Amino acid sequence: MYRDHTCGELRISDVGKKVTLAGWVQRSRKLGGMTFIDLRDRYGITQLVVEADAPKALVDAANELGREFVIQAVGEVVERSNKNAKMPTGDVEIKLQSINVLNASLTPPFTIEENTDGGEDLRAKFRYLDLRRDPLQKALQLRHNICQEVRKYLSDNNFLEIETPFLINSTPEGARDFVVPSRMNPGTFYALPQSPQTLKQSLMVAGMDRYFQIVKCFRDEDLRADRQPEFTQIDCEMSFVEQEDVLNMFEGMMRHLFKEILNVDVANPLPRMTWSDAMDKYGSDKPDIRFGMLIHEITPLAQGHGFGVFDNVPYVGAIAVGGAADWSRKQTDELTDWVKRPQVGAKGLVYIKMGEDGSIKSSVDKFFSPGDLQKIADATSAVKGDLILMLSGEKRQTQVQLGQLRIELGNRCGLRKTDVFAPLWLTDFPLFEWNDEENKWDAMHHPFTAPKPEHLQYYYSDKPEDILKVCANAYDFVLNGNELGGGSIRIHDPKTQERMFQIIGIGPEEAQRKFGFLINSFKYGAPPHGGLAFGLDRICSLFGGSDSIRDYIAFPKNNQGKDVMLGAPSIIDQKQLDELCLELRKQEQEGE
Ligand code: AMO
Repeated sequence: MYRDHTCGELRISDVGKKVTLAGWVQRSRKLGGMTFIDLRDRYGITQLVVEADAPKALVDAANELGREFVIQAVGEVVERSNKNAKMPTGDVEIKLQSINVLNASLTPPFTIEENTDGGEDLRAKFRYLDLRRDPLQKALQLRHNICQEVRKYLSDNNFLEIETPFLINSTPEGARDFVVPSRMNPGTFYALPQSPQTLKQSLMVAGMDRYFQIVKCFRDEDLRADRQPEFTQIDCEMSFVEQEDVLNMFEGMMRHLFKEILNVDVANPLPRMTWSDAMDKYGSDKPDIRFGMLIHEITPLAQGHGFGVFDNVPYVGAIAVGGAADWSRKQTDELTDWVKRPQVGAKGLVYIKMGEDGSIKSSVDKFFSPGDLQKIADATSAVKGDLILMLSGEKRQTQVQLGQLRIELGNRCGLRKTDVFAPLWLTDFPLFEWNDEENKWDAMHHPFTAPKPEHLQYYYSDKPEDILKVCANAYDFVLNGNELGGGSIRIHDPKTQERMFQIIGIGPEEAQRKFGFLINSFKYGAPPHGGLAFGLDRICSLFGGSDSIRDYIAFPKNNQGKDVMLGAPSIIDQKQLDELCLELRKQEQEGE
């Protein structure tokens, strides 16, 4: 037996016990002839002490310990004279009788402490060392707890956990596929699932009624803090349901998680917002409703004053920033630069300052009288002391820019606190969006999403303005400005499905080749069904109070999609290429 207690376990009530601990040496220090060692494992840290009058062999052994040595330590639990209230084990220490070095360690390339000195690349290369750090151990513990509670809730509600294959065909989630060549069928490729969407629908046709899976999904897309090429979904599907049934079931699941994991009671029922309201008021389809600063359309008030930037566009919008009228010229100039960055793409920023003394000043005083400006202020509910910021242009584009500005200001003003949770449902998404680059309609969610029954007349119309009007039976779960999950009621009859493919430009042959199995299955008694998927990594990071999902994934990829610890992706042997009947072009072979 290597140990009888963990390093996080011993308390004052254990004083007098002889114990054996095992773990890593966090650090050791000498003080007045005594040696103190912090011994760490997943459960905590316990202080070990070698007294000055201990046998020489023991003193020598203690002095030879380096950081991250793995040791077994035997000794007696004693009360500490110098207690550490910050540590759960801080009332006691172990008076050592023997030390057994189980394994020595090279000096680690960075310190294994809460705030390490290692840069990102170095830590990624030595991920197994980075993972020893307490914040990452806690992050993976949190992920485990969330998975357990998800399984408990869904299992209690009759969901079956069913695995689906990874070696499949292209799935329609809009990203690029990761492909795997087939040795047994030369010249053909599997695609890894971007989600198990079509398979879970097949399970509904198969009569499984309620399915879930905590499952890896693979999408070859550009990475961001909340995006990984392989990530995990809590993927769910239910039969004989309408939108309301799905929302209730998964509102219940999220409420369960908030309560069990964070002991937070969220609004009951959760607020709901239509997609068009979210775009109008928040300039985002994932609104952060922890703070106000809403977007107001001021087009009629802003136009007709001879200011070309406002007059010659379809939309002018404004937000009011509380208490920011005293921001300096430098600060407003800096905000102007911020909105002009390519990521935002606005042409400029117009402001009105509502002085505490009742004065009104703006960057467009030449065109607007104080009375005109006051009307704009009233429309944005601004009061004395506020700063009003205005952008103009195409409607949705300008709203999105104002939405980005709103989030930036929310950050700058400290309004986006990570321990405040404001979840909501977004509903009534458009079924289609226009793809400018390819000059065609795309399904906004995915092509198995059902149109709202009351919009069927538009769905079967050939006019573009009608197609734009079709709302989907689709919904997103949004938390603090992040999309945590999304889903829809599905099409379950061949005719509606065929029309969908027709609108998005997938011909009957391509549809048969890609999704024939599903379309055909609809001819054999498909139940009405719907579902959704949550991003597990995102739930973990937001519950843990972080923006980045990487800390909640044991072995994440870096921004170039690489695992630098494994050295993946990597070249493969010529033998493997030959077996797969693959030939690389010259420059790829040389890694250029
Ligand atoms: P969707 O594509 O919206 O829906 O994905 C569902 C949720 O998965 C998470 N997510 C990601 N997380 C990390 N990295 C990524 N690259 C990534 N992409 C998505 C998000 C998102 O809300 N089959 C449908 C679901 C359904 O209709 O049932 C689907 O995959 O949190």
